[in-house]
Amino acid sequence: MIESSINMNEIKEIAESWTYEAAAKIKREMNESYSVDTKADEHDLVTEVDKSIETFFADKIAKQYPGHRLMGEEGSFKDIHDLNGVVWILDPIDGTVNFVHQRTGFAISIGVYQNGEPLVGIVYDVIQDEMFSSVKGQGAFLNGVRLADLYESRLDRSLISFNSGWVLQDRRLEALIEQARGMRSYGAAALEIAYVACGRLDAYISFNLAPWDIAGGCAILREVGGVASDYEGKELSFMGKGTFLAANPGVYKEILHTVHTS
Ligand code: IPD
Ligand code: CA
Ligand code: CA
Ligand code: CA
Repeated sequence: MIESSINMNEIKEIAESWTYEAAAKIKREMNESYSVDTKADEHDLVTEVDKSIETFFADKIAKQYPGHRLMGEEGSFKDIHDLNGVVWILDPIDGTVNFVHQRTGFAISIGVYQNGEPLVGIVYDVIQDEMFSSVKGQGAFLNGVRLADLYESRLDRSLISFNSGWVLQDRRLEALIEQARGMRSYGAAALEIAYVACGRLDAYISFNLAPWDIAGGCAILREVGGVASDYEGKELSFMGKGTFLAANPGVYKEILHTVHTS
């Protein structure tokens, strides 16, 4: 499929409307009883709601765009072995631990990619009703209002976010904690990348993220001049788990310098 045959604005409109529908479904289902299971360990939860939202999107995409493929966290990723053509990269609920424990602070995340390039990004905070979205080359938006391009900020004026446990894994983070203005932690990667895009955060770091955690946020971030790579500065593949760094362009350079010199 060639890019000119793709109507990115239509995909964004449709993805947004499905996302609002899915969010209403989540709100209904979270008020009923639902099963909660662990996946790899006690940190890693999945609920019936995560699965039903992935099925919801799988059905919609198959009907509307039979030529598109779905890489979703709750099972559909198993059929995807490359990013050829158009692939919807979906996290039906990003921040499942927040969803289960706090009933807030979680998002639906979608990145529509063509041959590995982001076309459309959606990150929707279901409870706060904040819709972050983007279309390639047309900017990024928060509830329909265009986000400003990021200006080059500085590490000593920045708010940085990562899960505190990562400090035990990589002591180089201590140097960043010392240099940054402050630390935050939200427990939902997609939202944290969207927060970098809108300037609420200046950087977000993780050591183990999957494509569905980052695809929507990275599409949005790119539209405002933000930078994303792995923690060492290498290009992201969107085909497996790995380390992750998203940041304001100025802060990104300082973080990589700190990482490589401490
Ligand atoms: C998780 C969240 C969390 C991050 C984990 C992710 P999930 O996604 O984004 O903030 O630290 O690495 O797996 O499982 O809630 O979709
Ligand atoms: Ca998960
Ligand atoms: Ca996730
Ligand atoms: Ca998830």
